[in-house]
Amino acid sequence: MTLTLTPPTTLAPAGPLDVLGVPGQINLDYAASAPCARAAADAVAALLPWYASVHRGAGALSRRCTLAYERARQTVGDFLGTRPDDHVVFTRNTTDALNLLARALPAGATVVTFGGEHHANLLPWPRGSVRLPVPADAAGAVRALDAALGELRRGNGPGRELPVLVAVTGASNVTGERWPVAELARVARRHRARIAVDAAQLAPHAPVDVRALDIDYLAVSGHKLYAPFGAGVLVGRADWLDAAPPYLAGGGATSHVGAATHDVRWTTGPARHEAGTPNLLGAVALAAVCDALAAADRGALHDAEQALLARLRDGIGALPHVVELRTFGPDAPRVGIVSFVVAGRESDEVAAHLARHHDIGVRDGLFCAHPLARRLLAEAAARTGRRDLPPTALRASIGLGSTAQHVDRLLAALAALA
Ligand SMILES: Cc1ncc(COP(=O)(O)O)c(C=O)c1O
Repeated sequence: MTLTLTPPTTLAPAGPLDVLGVPGQINLDYAASAPCARAAADAVAALLPWYASVHRGAGALSRRCTLAYERARQTVGDFLGTRPDDHVVFTRNTTDALNLLARALPAGATVVTFGGEHHANLLPWPRGSVRLPVPADAAGAVRALDAALGELRRGNGPGRELPVLVAVTGASNVTGERWPVAELARVARRHRARIAVDAAQLAPHAPVDVRALDIDYLAVSGHKLYAPFGAGVLVGRADWLDAAPPYLAGGGATSHVGAATHDVRWTTGPARHEAGTPNLLGAVALAAVCDALAAADRGALHDAEQALLARLRDGIGALPHVVELRTFGPDAPRVGIVSFVVAGRESDEVAAHLARHHDIGVRDGLFCAHPLARRLLAEAAARTGRRDLPPTALRASIGLGSTAQHVDRLLAALAALA
């Protein structure tokens, strides 16, 4: 199959933020994996002739690759607003980043999260973690966290302060709704807890800045940020990461290995958790997109995306047989993601029909957020009084390269299902 650039789009001017695509195919599944930005493809193509080992060779090619990898670390860290003493650890994706953080928790740490999270931010946490109910609105999330952290602190007893980590999403992968990250961070700070933000869905749509939000850890996936090639990142406070056992044991993570089986000293810094040959191309691709986004007018991109999102949601709202899923209410701020059901139709069949007859790609299922998706399906049935809603949902998601025509084609195809 030949890859070509899509024609000029509404969301990005021609340039590094053009996305690759196949003419005729309408991709409305960015929240799963976004298409590749030209910046990422170009950066990888430019480096490929030089491709060699990273941190393992003295040759000119290796030195260049090592430099490219470490520059990528700096670029990604800067893009995410890290503090000078934060670590920037390359991972495979957000799931990997949050699992790494889970393994780096100090002894006795409690993790507090909400039931609306993606499985990547529900399942890695240790037994004894607290899962708060999905709140009705953003203010409810802040109140619930405040109460839970207050209770945890009282339970710890005087003079016995065990570490607490709050782990929340920046934007829901089911509804696109944004979570009040800065407010939640303030609450965490007040209770001397740390906070980690799963920015897998937020970072592709809005600037995310660790310092400005005053958060401790942040995880993103390159493949959702227009940078395929398989790198993600965990950024944040160095102390827990440097004190934890290495995420992977092996070459590159050590400072000394003796002859005896367990005679090993692990290095500190990002390398402690990056044993083995790193994913150079993934890191360079991600850094290239970070550079391109940093140079772009993000306000204009945001406005264009919001206009398309409004077109999509208004269109769905006008179809009597289509019902939107939501947690926080219709007007809550959100990124370019909409989940919905078609009354009387199984979602997997609708998704297959859209693909086969309209060349439209959407996601169907429970979106790796089973507790939330099930709850929202039940809420949609209660809100509409309909008994013919299916047990799984559909999701359309947009971003760079999405156009009004793409949205209208989906709406027309859904209308024809009436
Ligand atoms: C909010 C959120 N967090 C985490 C993940 C996991 O991302 P990955 O599959 O790249 O590890 C996803 C993926 O859909 C997501 O939407």
